[in-house]
Parts: sequence; structure tokens; C-alpha cells
Amino acid sequence: MKKSSESKPNKVGEKKSLQLIQGLSKSTLGIIAALLILFALVMLVLFQTEISERFNSINSDQTSEIPEGPISIGILEIADGKDVETGLLAGEGLELVKANCTACHSSALILQNRFSRETWKSKIEWMQETQGLWDLGNTEPIILDYLAANYAPEEFRGRRKPLENIEWYTLED
Ligand code: HEC
Repeated sequence: MKKSSESKPNKVGEKKSLQLIQGLSKSTLGIIAALLILFALVMLVLFQTEISERFNSINSDQTSEIPEGPISIGILEIADGKDVETGLLAGEGLELVKANCTACHSSALILQNRFSRETWKSKIEWMQETQGLWDLGNTEPIILDYLAANYAPEEFRGRRKPLENIEWYTLED
């Protein structure tokens, strides 16, 4: 109650200053908004050129140029004994396998298969003859060793062996 009676005499002054502030803020708001829009546009242009530059460098690194020899660089991030990105088991030669064998297709084609070293070799030869896989050079034996060690056929995988030499006995009453 006290407050309202105190503020009454100031009302006219308040109104004027409010109008002043409103007038001011309208024009300044307009300027600020214009600046913000300009800023956003500039950022958008900068960002887009950066993205397209990155995209171009990725493209030219991977798809537009087919390497003549084996790729030797691979970035690994191992967790739980596997490369996080591809799911390939950690082991010697993994970075070569990741670099050369996940360039055209996903690692799933490796993960879902179990072959002997010879069969892995024939798969590689098949891809070289028909799919444009490059000569793996001196990395081929390392890649084959990795595949044969980590993705070899396992008999009775995930099951115990069937029992052998069971001695049956007859139940007696
Ligand atoms: C130049 C491209 C290319 C590269 C590099 C490549 N592959 Fe392939 N690979 C293919 C194509 C294409 C297929 C057929 C895919 C399909 O059937 O969908 C294939 C299929 C496969 C298959 C399935 C074969 C089958 O009989 O089921 C396996 C396993 C495989 N690749 C492993 C590898 C390994 C290991 C490497 C690394 C040494 C590798 N690939 C590198 C192109 C490539």
C-alpha cells in the first residue's frame, strides 16, 4: 500500500523515460539485429567453405585416387581388445588391415567370415582380379597373418565338443 502511494508522483517522469528508452531501444535493437544477421551470414559463409574444403580433402584422400600400393597409415582406438571404429580384433597388423581392407566396404565382411590363410589369400586375389583391390606388396603377408590368426575357422565355436567314448550303463531296479 505504501509503495503505490509513494510511486504516484513519479509516474509522469517514469512514462517519459520509458518512452525515451523504448524509442532508443527500438533503433538500437534494429541495429543490433542487423549486426547479428550480418555476423551470422559471415559465419555461415566461412563455415560452409571450411566444410566443403574438408569434404574435398577427404574425397581426394580416399575415393578419387586409387592407391597404387598398400596404404600404410591407420588410426586405431582400442577398447575391449577391439578397434572401436571397425570392431576388428586388436592384433599385429591391425592398422594395415584397417587401412587396406575397410576402404571399399565395411569391416563387417571380415568380421562375419572365418577362413584359412589360403582362403583369405584367394579372397584377396579375387578382389584384386575383379574389384580393383591394389597390390598389397610386402604388407600382404602381414595382412594374411592377421586374418589367419584372428579370423580363422574355429571348429565347434561357442559349443563344447560332443562327448566321446561314453560308457553307457543300465539302470537297475
Ligand atoms: C578396391 C575395393 C576393395 C578393397 C580395398 C577390399 N575389398 Fe573386399 N570386397 C570388395 C568388393 C567389391 C566385395 C564384394 C562385396 C559384396 O559382395 O557386396 C568384397 C568382398 C569381400 C569379402 C567377402 C567375400 C566373400 O566371398 O564373401 C571379404 C571377406 C573381403 N572383401 C575382405 C577384404 C579384405 C580382407 C580386404 C583387405 C585386404 C579387402 N576386402 C579390401 C572390394 C574391396
